Amino acid sequence: MSSETGPHHGEAVAARIERRWAALSIVIVGVLVGMATFIGIHQATMPQGRVELANPRTLHLSGEFIESNLGTSVEADGSVVVRAVGQQYSFTPQCIVVPVDTPVNLRTTSADVVHGLLIEGTNINTMLVPGYIADLQIRFKKPGEHVMPCQEFCGIGHQGMWGKVKVVEKDAFAKLMASRRRISCVE
Ligand code: CUA
Repeated sequence: MSSETGPHHGEAVAARIERRWAALSIVIVGVLVGMATFIGIHQATMPQGRVELANPRTLHLSGEFIESNLGTSVEADGSVVVRAVGQQYSFTPQCIVVPVDTPVNLRTTSADVVHGLLIEGTNINTMLVPGYIADLQIRFKKPGEHVMPCQEFCGIGHQGMWGKVKVVEKDAFAKLMASRRRISCVE
């Protein structure tokens, strides 16, 4: 057969190999697109691996978010935990105090409708969805104040729903913590 032995045999082989590689690369792209699509849809439709729930009807009666448990505390392991609740139209506590340059775990939820929580100048920007706990990690590099508006329309008083985060030096924080188990900077 001339195609096997003729002068064009090498070309035919090269063309065949090129087609195979082209097909392979299309398959690889297809697999990657398929994986991305699957993961995207899967994550959007499944709850996150670690979803924590908090019943908005009983928040004020028992559990982690009762009023006496809100504010900033130092846990047994030395970590700083802030617990706060959003409700129409305020945050409790309205002013959160945290130490500088320390890992802070911010745990929040909503007592009624969906609110937002944004800490200006940081990457903290979450929704407070009734029934769910938003659990965030943050570390403030400098002392100072950050405004903390609700950034999710939550009703007629939405634009008045603002809180504040006050970042203080570590020793000042220790002094504040010395007298109480939970603190805030609400005056
Ligand atoms: Cu709460 Cu907007």
